[in-house]
Amino acid sequence: MEPRHPPRRHCDPRSYRRPHRHPGPRSCAELGSPAVRGAADPAAEDVRAGRVPAPTPSRRWRARPDRRPWDCGCSAPCTPWCCSGKRRTWPCTTRGRRWDDPGAAWEPFRRAVAEHPDHIAGWMRRPPQTNEVGRANQLIAGLLAVTDALGLPEPPPVRLLELGASAGLNLRADRFRVRAGPGGREFAWGDPGSPVVLDGAWRDGAPPPRLATAAARVPAPVVVERLGCDVDPLDPLDPADALALRAYLWPDLPHRAERLAGALALAREVPARVVRQGAADFLAGTELRPGTLTVVWHSVMRQYVPPAEWSRAEAELDRLGRAGRGPGSGWFAHLAFEPRRVGGVHRFVLTARLGDGPQEVLAEAHPWGLDARATETTALDG
Ligand SMILES: C[S@@+](CC[C@H](N)C(=O)[O-])C[C@H]1O[C@@H](n2cnc3c(N)ncnc32)[C@H](O)[C@@H]1O
Repeated sequence: MEPRHPPRRHCDPRSYRRPHRHPGPRSCAELGSPAVRGAADPAAEDVRAGRVPAPTPSRRWRARPDRRPWDCGCSAPCTPWCCSGKRRTWPCTTRGRRWDDPGAAWEPFRRAVAEHPDHIAGWMRRPPQTNEVGRANQLIAGLLAVTDALGLPEPPPVRLLELGASAGLNLRADRFRVRAGPGGREFAWGDPGSPVVLDGAWRDGAPPPRLATAAARVPAPVVVERLGCDVDPLDPLDPADALALRAYLWPDLPHRAERLAGALALAREVPARVVRQGAADFLAGTELRPGTLTVVWHSVMRQYVPPAEWSRAEAELDRLGRAGRGPGSGWFAHLAFEPRRVGGVHRFVLTARLGDGPQEVLAEAHPWGLDARATETTALDG
């Protein structure tokens, strides 16, 4: 299936053409994908030698202040891997594959490039788009913590609003099952029959005490609204968009694919809406509702928002925080799972702010939201 969106040029070929200037492979290895790590070097070689097409960057991509060849380094080898759907030229599953052999990934990919150049070129020109369901682990932990912190006899109904929601899969996070320890023996929260099971959620078998207490006190938040925004929203019910989400997952990480498949199934049962809008404009049109807890959350999107837009978004978050004064006005919380600099190092941390109170750092986790742990971090750089 070809991409539904008009192709957009997104990658900077210079990142490939300069030897050793594509940090993508290193990131892939750190994130645990030996297949993509193994493919990236021969891929870069072939691009440099002109044996496979190198997409050229769009003006929009070049203008991005944080532009890095990361997306490109990772996605170029893996984008068309799985997205070919019915084509069998390269691995769509990990079954029976030995990913410790670098050629296992790149050789089938090269064959596919040779056999279906137009198909590949179409996919490589669109920006990578993911929706990582594991991050719901952190968002939901934050939601339970702020709900509990209200100290009410009954938790109020929750309005979930997400910035950079992608396909809006995490707007159904309250319907996921979160587990830690083998088979969830040490910690489990959420619907035991959920098609989305987030295993290995907490590194030490259970969340830090405060979050574990909140999880016990708030076993099933009542969500009355699910609304997100994204500059490039995907529709999880559209087969082409679902395929795109699948395509950008690395093929040697089957748990990610299982989480995604479960979330796509859940999306058919639990409606949520994602509007095509930037974060600041979306927040500018947001008001609280009496008797409800309005939660604005986001994960790994902050770095894509231009600085001026983010300043506006922060001003709107402050406005909503000041407005959230209790049942008459409604309550407000802002949750973020984002890479932040801590002592000069990037870490993925969960922060929470209730009303206009102080921002708290609740936990940190793997970039995909799992293997989370308590954090000693209280001060973020900037
Ligand atoms: C890396 S994805 C993360 C998606 C999702 N939050 C997750 O954690 O899986 C970043 C998302 O931010 C969106 N995005 C980028 N700039 C944005 C902006 N200014 N306002 C809203 N969304 C934006 C992108 O389209 C993309 O869907």
